[in-house]
Amino acid sequence: MRRSWCMEYEELGWDELSERERLTLRAAVETAKQAYAPYSNFPVGAAAYLRKGDIWIGNNQENAAYPSGLCAERTLLFSLGAHNLVTEIEIVAVYASASLLPIMPCGACRQVMYEYQQRSENPWTLIFAGAADFVYRMKGVESLLPLAFVWRRS
Ligand code: THU
Repeated sequence: MRRSWCMEYEELGWDELSERERLTLRAAVETAKQAYAPYSNFPVGAAAYLRKGDIWIGNNQENAAYPSGLCAERTLLFSLGAHNLVTEIEIVAVYASASLLPIMPCGACRQVMYEYQQRSENPWTLIFAGAADFVYRMKGVESLLPLAFVWRRS
């Protein structure tokens, strides 16, 4: 049996985003300035819009022992997890000025995003942006990680 997986996303101008999406993306842009990325010079900002209207932020945090650092997306999501706010997430935006194309999360972040979205009631709206004047927008994390690993106790 042959099966295939289809991924859908939109390519949009910043002005085509909703007000909430744009606010979230602007927060990602702002928080990228607080990234600690002296080794890669690749600052990344991530922001989440929560159900009650507040915006949470995270950015990449590097270390001289390289693998000890963490991407912006996981810094954001683990912080939300620590505050028991994962179920509140509606929108996640990620921004990196050093990337011309919209930045896309690494595999480890996709895995974390996948599991954390499962803990939320609704699929998240995801916005990815770089230096170019367009963004990618998609609904739900599933298409970023087809056939994702999930822990199944049989
Ligand atoms: N990085 C992120 O923070 N998010 C991504 O989606 C991709 C990569 C970080 C990790 C590292 O600090 C730097 O960008 C270069 O890889």
